[in-house]
Amino acid sequence: MTNCDCNAQEVNDYLLPVVKNKKLAGRLFWMTFEAPGLARSVRAGHSVMIFPDMGTDPLLGRPFAVADADAERGEFSVCYVLVGRGTEMLSLVPAGAKLRVRGFLGKPCPDTGDELILAGGGVGAAALMMKKRERRERCSLYIGMPGRGYEGYAEEILSIHPDAKIFADDGSFGEGDSMFKALPRPLADGMQAWCCGPVGFLEAMRRHYEDTPQRLYYLLDKRMACGYGGCMGCVIETANGLKRVCVDQTIFRADEVNIHDN
Ligand SMILES: Cc1cc2nc3c(=O)[nH]c(=O)nc-3n(C[C@H](O)[C@H](O)[C@H](O)COP(=O)(O)OP(=O)(O)OC[C@H]3O[C@@H](n4cnc5c(N)ncnc54)[C@H](O)[C@@H]3O)c2cc1C
Ligand code: FES
Repeated sequence: MTNCDCNAQEVNDYLLPVVKNKKLAGRLFWMTFEAPGLARSVRAGHSVMIFPDMGTDPLLGRPFAVADADAERGEFSVCYVLVGRGTEMLSLVPAGAKLRVRGFLGKPCPDTGDELILAGGGVGAAALMMKKRERRERCSLYIGMPGRGYEGYAEEILSIHPDAKIFADDGSFGEGDSMFKALPRPLADGMQAWCCGPVGFLEAMRRHYEDTPQRLYYLLDKRMACGYGGCMGCVIETANGLKRVCVDQTIFRADEVNIHDN
């Protein structure tokens, strides 16, 4: 158990069996852990920090959004893309091995009575999938991905959320080549759009909903060191002051945050 005296939330480190570590596309993987207690308590907006090695190299864990949880099976999953050494190491972990996992990081996303449009660019969709699980009604999930080669990613998402709308940039599968041709506009009263993905995608969402930035929200990530509020490494400047992504705030109103501060 980890504690600090800076108004941070309490997080725990667990040693969890890896149930599955499956390649979905070229550099995209799906990793499932057996963790009945965590699978029951996870909420949309939560992330975990996974330590790629049981030793001290690398020293820091790598944070990933919880993409799905199945309370009955007692499992939760993350979806990760290979970008550097830590994720390369993760990709080599066989099913049956155990990894140190710290969680949960991040404030659960707030409940809202509004109709929700969830829009994810690439692996950014992972951070939104739990919200879709929590709020099946009046909630639609739009996901953009590169295209050919990513069929396995689309299949994994559709196996969990059969009504997800998938868009492939090359138009080779899914419902078209761009979600921006399909995303409802304008965002009326009683509607919100939440999005997660690369900065270019977030900017495109901002342009798409330029008349109603107060109804557009970003789930942001920031490089993290401790994951429990102690290091101030994950601070984002907002209209309401500095916020730590790991403990203070996970979702940000588009007109209250500078996404280039990331
Ligand atoms: C709250 C949170 C949730 C995240 N959720 C996911 C997720 O669901 N799926 C996923 O694939 N990734 C996610 N990330 C990003 C993921 O943590 C990094 O890609 C990972 O830590 C890289 O580790 P590495 O050792 O492979 O790369 P490193 O060797 O540490 O870095 C390689 C490259 O990746 C860049 N990078 C590292 N961390 C980040 C980051 N946080 N944001 C942007 N660029 C980064 C570095 O600048 C560098 O260029 C999340 C990050 C945070 C903070
Ligand atoms: S990662 Fe250390 S304060 Fe957020």
